[in-house]
Amino acid sequence: MFSMLISIFVPQQIHDRVSCLGLSALNNVFLKKNYMSAAAKVYKRVTTNALIEMKASGTKISMLTAYDYSMAKAVDAANIDVILVGDSASNVMSGHETTLPITVDQMIYHASAVVNAVKRALVVVDLPFGSYQSDPKEALRSSIRIMKEAGAHAVKIEGGAEIKDSMVRILKAGIPVMGHLGLTPQSIYKFGTYNVRAREEAEAEKLLEDAKLLEQLGCFALVLEKIPAALAKKVAKAVQIPVIGIGAGGDVDGQVLVLHDMLGLTTEFSPRFLRRYMHLYDQMTTAIKQYVKDVKSNDFPNKDEQY
Ligand code: KIV
Repeated sequence: MFSMLISIFVPQQIHDRVSCLGLSALNNVFLKKNYMSAAAKVYKRVTTNALIEMKASGTKISMLTAYDYSMAKAVDAANIDVILVGDSASNVMSGHETTLPITVDQMIYHASAVVNAVKRALVVVDLPFGSYQSDPKEALRSSIRIMKEAGAHAVKIEGGAEIKDSMVRILKAGIPVMGHLGLTPQSIYKFGTYNVRAREEAEAEKLLEDAKLLEQLGCFALVLEKIPAALAKKVAKAVQIPVIGIGAGGDVDGQVLVLHDMLGLTTEFSPRFLRRYMHLYDQMTTAIKQYVKDVKSNDFPNKDEQY
């Protein structure tokens, strides 16, 4: 009886996903109001709609940065949902103190290498500082270049109400936009510090209003950077689009970190929110020191390593 009801009322692809489960599991699936959360859907390719579905089904979204082919290949192979070609490339790839110097051309160079590697993840590319603030036409031109020349799937833009016109122009062209609020590093000289944002009520209220505005304009997702966890939770509840946090606590719809930070390739940056999964800088220097030693001592190459 239950199987019959399920075959009538449950869409085919969901029925296929649960049909391999036993009857009691099937009952659970049926009884759960939100049946999507019973079995995490497997996405061959992650789309903007897939992210919205993930939020609706309570499936957390994983996101990491990448800036080159080899790293992006490894990140994608590990089933990450979103790869962000962040303007943090300015820091971790070029050694600049801020994200401000990176250009659209440089973002396109990094993004096209990432797109070449990726088979599954959604690739989102940052619009760099100066490429969208002056006027909506320039914002659209920059976005079109990034979509066309790099093959990006979406762009990310920092800011709220103040960049509304640019946002509308880009969205009208059919380009998916991810918003970014809270500590927006392109405004570092306005903030003067990398401290937690929106601790004060006025800034917190503006952030919440901005988040609602971005949803209303048509953004498919939102990054919240370094804000109090309670505020991030409130925002994630107030909007239907996925909210992805970095230093914004666990009560949001997903998490993002800078790849080089979580792998321990960067060593000088240790905010509280950063979990290091490796100490790659140390491992690399150990390996490189060994190579130098082997070359100097004539150990490398040996007979098997030559023609
Ligand atoms: O550029 C970047 O890496 C970012 C993340 C920190 C969200 O914007």
